Amino acid sequence: MKREIPANIAIIMDGNGRWAKAKGLPRTKGHLQGSENIRIIAKEANKLGIKNLILYAFSTENWARPEEEKNYLFQLPKLFFGKYIDELKRENIRVSAIGEYEKFPASTVSVINKAIEETKNCTGCNLCLAVNYGGRREIMLAAKQMAEDYKKGIVEEINEDCLSDYLMTEVKDVDLLIRTSGEVRVSNFLLWQIAYAEMMFVDCAWPDFSVEELHKCLEAYQYRDRRFGGLKNEN
Ligand code: IPE
Ligand code: IPE
Ligand code: MG
Repeated sequence: MKREIPANIAIIMDGNGRWAKAKGLPRTKGHLQGSENIRIIAKEANKLGIKNLILYAFSTENWARPEEEKNYLFQLPKLFFGKYIDELKRENIRVSAIGEYEKFPASTVSVINKAIEETKNCTGCNLCLAVNYGGRREIMLAAKQMAEDYKKGIVEEINEDCLSDYLMTEVKDVDLLIRTSGEVRVSNFLLWQIAYAEMMFVDCAWPDFSVEELHKCLEAYQYRDRRFGGLKNEN
């Protein structure tokens, strides 16, 4: 068996609401349990040597949710980092964020920024949270800025690498995309970066996505033959 660990993993953390409903709990309890699971999976990803773990926490479409649910989601980063920032730092996990999270309440924005600042010298896994993120919006904003810079002469030639540099992510290519909870769609996540990602859709809800489930995905990834448009790799 090939022993290849993907460098860059993205996860669409779906199914918090259904997880809660199945237990007769309010949806918010599912989000809380989902946020607890971020700690478990981030620590394991770090231990395995995964370089970037990009987690979809709130999409540009999630503004359509009821106010009560959104208000809870806005508070979650405070709860999460309040509890775990010291541990993340000890584990050498670097926190980063993509998306226009500055549109979240100011107190949440400052907690996220503080977590980024406090872990900026960590050299382990980059735990990147996508907060108020949408793939189409990211590409549109990148194209807009690139066009402005082209007009000013800052950009000489427009090409794929150039546009890629204007995206929000440090990672330009996702190796493995996982979506939990059974839905088989990408819901506007990292549209550019997943061009050649291996995709896995697992049935379990995000709060139940355990270290063992992650290992199963990594094992399956090792059997995928990534051809990138070329011919089958016979080695
Ligand atoms: C994912 O869980 C978390 C967010 C989208 C914020 P959901 O809240 O989408 O849970 P389901 O899909 O309704 O079960
Ligand atoms: C995608 O899940 C967004 C996040 C996990 C943050 P959704 O639950 O919002 O996606 P749809 O609406 O089922 O496509
Ligand atoms: Mg959902």
